[in-house]
Amino acid sequence: MTSKELRKAWLDFYKERGHVDIGVASLIGDGTTGVMFNVAGMQPLMPYLLGKEHPLGKRLCNVQGCIRTNDIESVGDSSHTTFFEMMGSWSLGDYFKEERTKWSFELLTKVFEMPVERLATTVFEGNESVPRDTETAMLREKSGFLPQNIFFLPKEDNWWELDRGPCGPDSEMFYITDKEACCNNCTPACDCGRYVEIGNDVFMQYDRISDDKYVLLDKKNVDTGWGLERILAFLNTDGDVYLTDVFAGAISILEEKSGKKYKEDENVTASIRIIADHIRTSVMLLGDEKHLVPSNVGAGYILRRLIRRAVRHARKLNISTEVFSELAANFIDNVYGDFYNELKNSKEFVLNELNKEITKFEKTLNLGIKEFDKLVKRLDEENSKIIDGNASFRLYDTYGFPIELTEELAKEKGYIVDIDAFNEKFKEHQEKSRTAATGTFKGGLESSGEIETKYHTATHLLNAALKVVIGPDVHQRGSNITSERMRFDFSCDHKLTDEEKQKTEDLVNKWIQDGIDVTFEVMSKDKALKSGAECMFIEKYPDEVKVYSIGDISKELCGGPHVKNTNELGHFKIVKEEASSAGVRRIKACFD
Ligand code: SER
Repeated sequence: MTSKELRKAWLDFYKERGHVDIGVASLIGDGTTGVMFNVAGMQPLMPYLLGKEHPLGKRLCNVQGCIRTNDIESVGDSSHTTFFEMMGSWSLGDYFKEERTKWSFELLTKVFEMPVERLATTVFEGNESVPRDTETAMLREKSGFLPQNIFFLPKEDNWWELDRGPCGPDSEMFYITDKEACCNNCTPACDCGRYVEIGNDVFMQYDRISDDKYVLLDKKNVDTGWGLERILAFLNTDGDVYLTDVFAGAISILEEKSGKKYKEDENVTASIRIIADHIRTSVMLLGDEKHLVPSNVGAGYILRRLIRRAVRHARKLNISTEVFSELAANFIDNVYGDFYNELKNSKEFVLNELNKEITKFEKTLNLGIKEFDKLVKRLDEENSKIIDGNASFRLYDTYGFPIELTEELAKEKGYIVDIDAFNEKFKEHQEKSRTAATGTFKGGLESSGEIETKYHTATHLLNAALKVVIGPDVHQRGSNITSERMRFDFSCDHKLTDEEKQKTEDLVNKWIQDGIDVTFEVMSKDKALKSGAECMFIEKYPDEVKVYSIGDISKELCGGPHVKNTNELGHFKIVKEEASSAGVRRIKACFD
């Protein structure tokens, strides 16, 4: 089966069972929930899983691109990728476990023709709050799973949730590979490679409203997500996703250009996989309907890291990065263009942006590598293994090395980056440029009387509204507040149209009228950043930070102060929109 046939088989299977194909959503977070990327097919469906009626009914399906980048460094093996396609299907308060388990087995054994002795499944073992899911275990056995291949596992393995929102116990399906069991207790929970997860049926019955608070939903949903590439890999190869048809073109281009064979040598194989994966993900992000571009913050920074890491691996293979255009064109023309329409329409944009970023980095890469080599020579002389903050910051600032790249280079050669020292330097630098840019601290607040506090909350609303209206790439670049007005600088490459200004103003006023609570939590910076909270200069903040949330529309690292509820603000009016500096626009606004 090819990837195109597999997508079709999935959608046909569900359409025959009354599901409607809801199509593909953007890969970039919607700017309101603070999530950077779409990590699962269910993400755009959150409101419907929480109870809102979906216009297309109670049975839905699709094939949705997903991005998971918390593990970029593990790309290089046979099953990790930063982009993957999730084949999804949903019951919104309609059918539940009986149909779900029956159809899953039918798909696995009849449609994909996987031998039953190769299949394993896991079921939630229960805890003090939620009972053991014996019903699903029983139904799995009834559908045809072999009893010895059904495992009960705890919450860390069999519970699906994001930071907030719909969640519940899940039941995963695994392909059993030829790898020997690692021990007598080898289960699908081991990461030894014997069991590879290919699909997940989540029984979503709860809403996670805070870190440890769950409330029961009115309706019981099923959220099903299966990995297209992994299934393809087991249908056609020994489980290596890079040997499937989605990567075939890319691998053969890379083999030809490098004169090396895939799987001949471990390091070469890893570099080939890294380039193929990172360029594929970059192409999907650049060609997404929201057209992410590389930058130094948030999602744009991840894209920058992916491209720059691919550039370095091209060096390792001794090939010119000119090959990236060829790879990108191959993904667009031969693999994804027909399914992801926007990608096809924006081919030129994708190739241009990719080339721009490569050129930018290549200008400094050679010098940076030389600098790095000099550095390790010096360390050897000093008998040290630690790269200090000055050195790593210089590589970042002068040579454009993402810190993760320096860490990777260091690791390969047996050195360690003192990451705290890097962060310290980064912070110093940002404080300096921030002071220079705004002449003020504390979120641009000169003093914090009542009216200034209101304007301060309004800057968070404006920031969130601009992300919705203009796109998730909008980030705060500065702000200044007096008792007369607020000024807000943000990244944006164009003059706002009247319509954009109006929409932004309307959205802020809607949120003011909605009377949304403004709350804060104190948490570690790491946790705050992982939760997707927006912040202006990541490194400026101490280890413990305050995260201010306005309902679920805004989440920012911020010292405050803020009003308690948005209804305390007056009617919001944009007075002026103008250029501030290159790529930065400025809005002046007041309450009228
Ligand atoms: N949300 C579940 C997952 O990502 C199934 O769709 O695994």
